[in-house]
Amino acid sequence: MLTAQITGWGKCMPPSVLSNHDLEQLVDTSDEWITTRTGIKERRISHVETSELAAVACHRALAAAGRTPDEVDLLLVATCSGDSVIPSTASVVQKLLGAPNAAAMDLNAACSGFVYGLVVGTNMIRGGTNRVVLVAGAEKLHHLTDFTDRTTCVLFGDGAGAVVLEAGEGTDGVLASDLGMDGSVGHILEVPVDGTQGDRGPIDPSTSGITMEGQEVFRRAVTKMGESAVLALQRAGVSLEEVDLLIPHQANIRIIDATARRLGIDESKVYVNIASYGNTSAATIPVALTEALEEGRIQPGDIVVMTAFGGGLTWGSLVYRWGDRVEPLGVSDVELPPPDRDTMELLKPNFEFFGLPEKLT
Ligand SMILES: CC(C)(COP(=O)(O)OP(=O)(O)OC[C@H]1O[C@@H](n2cnc3c(N)ncnc32)[C@H](O)[C@@H]1OP(=O)(O)O)[C@@H](O)C(=O)NCCC(=O)NCCS
Repeated sequence: MLTAQITGWGKCMPPSVLSNHDLEQLVDTSDEWITTRTGIKERRISHVETSELAAVACHRALAAAGRTPDEVDLLLVATCSGDSVIPSTASVVQKLLGAPNAAAMDLNAACSGFVYGLVVGTNMIRGGTNRVVLVAGAEKLHHLTDFTDRTTCVLFGDGAGAVVLEAGEGTDGVLASDLGMDGSVGHILEVPVDGTQGDRGPIDPSTSGITMEGQEVFRRAVTKMGESAVLALQRAGVSLEEVDLLIPHQANIRIIDATARRLGIDESKVYVNIASYGNTSAATIPVALTEALEEGRIQPGDIVVMTAFGGGLTWGSLVYRWGDRVEPLGVSDVELPPPDRDTMELLKPNFEFFGLPEKLT
């Protein structure tokens, strides 16, 4: 049977770091509060556009797969913080990569976007339409972050990850998946700006940043990620005991721990890197997958489950049986240009737009 197999993986994390101690200089918060409530210690702030983060991650994934950009026939960029409405971020990534044979589009399912992208790519392969699909998750969330709001500004970060998905034969690859959405509660996590709603007028900072009902999102995330993972496992005919590694969306360590507890999966089988990057939305899972492989956490034959939850409200899970190769075939020498400003300088446009954080006033 034709299957979709991950043959390459890569990430691109911008180098500028915003630590909890840096945030203590901006708003009324503490490293202790952020660490115990979220598990986050620091996050990255990008000096380049979302497309550039995605393109570097894609170059690295292609090198790991032993593929060149011209072999890609479909490019999916999962993002909710793309460069522009038109052209799509995928269009810019296609140009930056030099992938003229790739159809390309953005996919916005917020933090579930990468899992949605993997499912779309898998079915394009299974249907015989495509053979080499690049799926990226890339975000520049600091652009949407209001640093006058301590309840959200401590959570999010920037970054990108990507995988190459290829048509293959055998029993390795994507085994099953589950995707879902509850639009009736979409308003509990939103960024209203840049859409057609409302009258034309000056851009209002109060509708331009990420706002959310944190506890409500938290509660639904735990329930839905657990239910979705179980459904995908049932469809795959795989038991919870057979899972070797759970890669959950990295939104909050307490959401991750509660999801693992609900599933009865031991924490030793759960991949967590939220301390270093915070919530990078569609990028968390491909970045975590890349790091899990780099750290030897995935072995040939392993069952890997990815599960995500995000704005929409969306959720999605995917069950994957890893093949023989856990090492990259090659390494890309493509790098981001170095930042020309320090982290606080990178945040200045936000301060000018949303207002100065309380400790800078
Ligand atoms: C946002 C979140 C971390 C808040 O944690 P919480 O334990 O629910 O905290 P609460 O909202 O109950 O706030 C508790 C107190 O901490 C305060 N607080 C909020 N943010 C704070 C911060 N950064 N520093 C210090 N105190 C803070 C609140 O004002 C509140 O104070 P009060 O009791 O005096 O009113 C948590 O709800 C969460 O992670 N939700 C999911 C968010 C998410 O992952 N979204 C993306 C999904 S993909």
